[in-house]
Amino acid sequence: MNTPRFVILGPQGAGKGTQAGRLVHRLGITHIYPGQILRDEMAAGTALGKKITKTMNAGKLVPIGLTNRLIRERIHQPDCQKHGWITDGYPRNMGQARPFQRFGHPNLIIHLHLSDAAAVKRLSGRRVCTKGHVYHLRHDPPKKRRGYCDHDGLKLFQRDDDTAKSIRQRLKIYHEETEPVLHWYKERVLIITVDAHQSIHGVYRDILRKMKRISWLSSRLQKK
Ligand code: AP5
Repeated sequence: MNTPRFVILGPQGAGKGTQAGRLVHRLGITHIYPGQILRDEMAAGTALGKKITKTMNAGKLVPIGLTNRLIRERIHQPDCQKHGWITDGYPRNMGQARPFQRFGHPNLIIHLHLSDAAAVKRLSGRRVCTKGHVYHLRHDPPKKRRGYCDHDGLKLFQRDDDTAKSIRQRLKIYHEETEPVLHWYKERVLIITVDAHQSIHGVYRDILRKMKRISWLSSRLQKK
């Protein structure tokens, strides 16, 4: 049987983390989120964390060798091998996509399409907790207590890289380096594209609808 080996791709604010979280819950797969792994290193004040803080806050990519190693090690862990995984924010350029094709063999690309204007607008309302749970002041506020995470009760805050300058820089990198990855995948891996301008639920519903057309995935979705 096929094991889910998914990549979710899209510009900043498209909802990669939001939708990946739902798919992880639905399919019992592992969320591989380099952005959060790197933020955890910064929060812990490790040597690596200190080294990458400036790069991350400026909205630039951390060195390719580091992310490739990080992802390679993670997907070879037993949980990923047994149940499958979804990468969120990887690969972001051809220096990551090429080796990943050899060691990861993704079998589905979920592409979320969003305009830059909508991305900038969305990110200004994003709030997160230190464990990486994501909310939006207007579109997806916490349900239990205002300003605190529903899952772990931690205080919500705005990410340091959610500034206008950093968002612009991240979008620029997306267009220059990540969009070519999407074109490259077109001849190699099955892609489903979903309009991410819809509501969170609308995007999720469309992803599931398109997944159900893929026979091996459809039977898996029915079992869950
Ligand atoms: P990362 O944490 O991955 O950030 P990003 O790529 O900038 O993506 P975002 O988290 O901003 O967007 P998202 O699409 O996940 O949106 P979300 O679901 O949160 O990376 C951060 C940094 O780490 C990088 O800049 C880089 O420095 C480094 N890094 C990471 N990966 C790397 C790599 N591979 N190589 C090198 N460096 C790397 O949603 C956004 C907001 O909108 C939320 O508030 C959400 O509630 C809301 N929302 C979501 N969907 C909807 C909707 N449909 N309608 C209304 N609101 C919505």
